[in-house]
Amino acid sequence: MLVQVLGTAAGGGIPQWNCACPGCSGARAHPSRRRKHASLAVHTDDGHCYLVNATPDVGDQIEAHPALHPGPGPRQTPIAGVVLTDAELDHTLGLWRLREADALEILATVPVRQALEDHLRLSEALGPYTALTWRELGRRGGQALRDAPDRPLGPGVHISAIPVSDKRPRYAAGAAAHDCWVVALRLYDRATGQTVLYAPAVAAWSDALHQAAADADCVIVDGTFWDEDEPRRTGLSARTATAMGHLPIEGPGGTAGILAQLSARCLYTHLNNTNRLVDPAAPEHKRLARLGIEVADDGMVIEL
Ligand code: MLT
Ligand code: MN
Ligand code: ZN
Repeated sequence: MLVQVLGTAAGGGIPQWNCACPGCSGARAHPSRRRKHASLAVHTDDGHCYLVNATPDVGDQIEAHPALHPGPGPRQTPIAGVVLTDAELDHTLGLWRLREADALEILATVPVRQALEDHLRLSEALGPYTALTWRELGRRGGQALRDAPDRPLGPGVHISAIPVSDKRPRYAAGAAAHDCWVVALRLYDRATGQTVLYAPAVAAWSDALHQAAADADCVIVDGTFWDEDEPRRTGLSARTATAMGHLPIEGPGGTAGILAQLSARCLYTHLNNTNRLVDPAAPEHKRLARLGIEVADDGMVIEL
């Protein structure tokens, strides 16, 4: 299985267009510190690939990776579709940018699809441009999502979803509660027996998520905030990191202590511009390195 990391930033990206915080200013001064919105490309054995989340950067992300370029036919693209972990704008706005596709498949859970259809009118807007087809993520027959078996994403790669939280996007704040508004994705390669777990938004570390992480060979997890107080300290929000839907890395209840116990290769992604990890010289990098945990970078390739 080949997975390309197309971006590693939380909503807004780094730098964020209207932000002069140290992280964003540092990225303007040092272009190597720039991070596009968090996304992956997962390649299947038939030469196709699926994007995991479609970010506002999707056009630039495709251009930055030759394996995602079109050809040899004039409108032939390897990108078959998009898998969504949630309905947040930083993970879905790119769908509108992909309207030039002849056809686009979207894999999403029921509430995520409903949010895009009912609140953002995705099908109504894109219908005149491209043929959208939907696949329900992770559910087969009447089974609960967490019990659903892996299904083929495409040849060679199976996919299933683990419910993570009922956190709704702000634009759908009034929508009904559902345990799979946010999911983690389990990507499984039958030929190699290897599994990648991708969880860019983790509000709570459930037993099901822990089991999936313990079984995985590579775990790519929410690294939005370094500590619980970061959103308040930096003036981003009056809420804690956890209340914003993102378990912090460090401190009680932080994910670093959990990841350090796993046998998998572990990486953080979805870094907010307030996170000190956006500065490569920050001492927090040494702290993670001592725990054997990595910070994902844009362009990283994971082959399993
Ligand atoms: C999040 O990750 O919490 C969301 O993307 C926040 C947002 O962009 O509103
Ligand atoms: Mn986000
Ligand atoms: Zn900033």
